[in-house]
Amino acid sequence: MRKPKITVIGSNMMDLITNIERMPCEGETIEAPNFDLGFGGKGANQAIAANKMGANVIMLTKVGDGIFGREVMKNFASYGIDTTFVETVADTTSGVAPIFVDREGKNRILIVKGANGHLKPEDIDKAASKIKDSDFILLQLEVPLETVYHAIEFGYQNNVPVILNPAPAAELDFNYVKKTSVFIPNETELQTITGMAVNTIEEIEEAAKSLLSKELATIIVTMGAKGSFLVTKNEVELIPAFKVKPKDTTGAGDAFIGSFATFYAEKNDIKEAMKAANRYAALSTLNVGTQKSFYTKEEYGKSII
Ligand code: RIB
Repeated sequence: MRKPKITVIGSNMMDLITNIERMPCEGETIEAPNFDLGFGGKGANQAIAANKMGANVIMLTKVGDGIFGREVMKNFASYGIDTTFVETVADTTSGVAPIFVDREGKNRILIVKGANGHLKPEDIDKAASKIKDSDFILLQLEVPLETVYHAIEFGYQNNVPVILNPAPAAELDFNYVKKTSVFIPNETELQTITGMAVNTIEEIEEAAKSLLSKELATIIVTMGAKGSFLVTKNEVELIPAFKVKPKDTTGAGDAFIGSFATFYAEKNDIKEAMKAANRYAALSTLNVGTQKSFYTKEEYGKSII
């Protein structure tokens, strides 16, 4: 069987992960129990998840010219991600993400885009011949919006379906967004983008349906421990999550999206792909960190949940 081919046009970050008992108050210094450095960025995380589940992945991103940028490139190389079109930006820091993880494994994330802010529409054009025959283009919102819109337009013109994860949430131009094949926000992003409440499954359904009236075809809302929720013109279905006791939920949404793209390309069945991606995301919460918590295909095959 041909391996799925996924192009990720998005961010990479160095994650600065601090475990905390609580956030300090203004003017206060407190000790935190643990710190870890990890490879992250929603784009890179989704690329690694897709790669670990067996896809050939092309990454379009930008790194800084310091130590973080060099390490990020080595990390991509260690997985065999195609970085032909990744450029280093002079005199610029790589993206970084200070992350705070509480005792229940829940996270709070800040991002500094750094070199990711230099990914431009023309970078997509340079890679055009290589990415035209991808099964999916995967996008997030940690690079400039003009680049995201150009990527959507590129996918649309070249018949490459686009999956857009609108994270972190931003005000969007639906003239572009309606050209995506699958739109995957989490609950918070859905709330910010629609301005509607998302406290109950009924409210989530209503908010997601409001996007159908903006001509979006398929919406999947990722809801953590509640699972993932599919809304199209013809159907609404909750695919329940796998029950686990999470250690660290950071990157679980990325694990879902990256693996979903691979499963969907392989199975061509959206609900089966969501079910498999729910499982992959749940497994990622059993280990600490972002990319390093993602299972390989072999580990996934052997896992007992
Ligand atoms: O989704 C998790 C990711 O968000 C982290 O890896 C961090 O880098 C931010 O991009």
